[in-house]
Amino acid sequence: MTKPIFVLNGPNMNLLGKREPEIYGSGTLGDIQASLESLAQELGLAIDFRQSNHEGDLLDWLHEAREEASAVIVNAAAYTHSSIATRDAVAAIEIPVVEVHLSNVHAREEFRQHSYLAPVALGAISGFGPQSYMLALRALHAIIA
Ligand code: DQA
Repeated sequence: MTKPIFVLNGPNMNLLGKREPEIYGSGTLGDIQASLESLAQELGLAIDFRQSNHEGDLLDWLHEAREEASAVIVNAAAYTHSSIATRDAVAAIEIPVVEVHLSNVHAREEFRQHSYLAPVALGAISGFGPQSYMLALRALHAIIA
């Protein structure tokens, strides 16, 4: 059986829909999960969608992905800009990892314009709202299928 694609979401992503809607939109993380699950089904893929506000959970899930996933889509949220540990965990994985962001981090505050993950990820998709996740799934489908 093909391994699932892990979709990992970092801190504050559980507040999507309520949190700064002018930046992140009014949809919830549950909405993104539902759309992604239906796209995955269409593409013949399985996803395992998770969110945590704790850095250590993201690290544990990235370690788990080394054995249990075929690829990873990660929105590490603020940890993107602060966590060397998350970067090291991504670097330790041989499977493809795609960094995603809802907002265009390059068009925002200077501290968001640096990503610790980008140099060790396969690629990054930023600025397309929930479509950032869909584009990442389509790209991984083309790469791993
Ligand atoms: C985000 C962008 C980050 O800078 C921010 O800390 C987030 C969300 C995004 O999806 O646009 O929490 O990753």
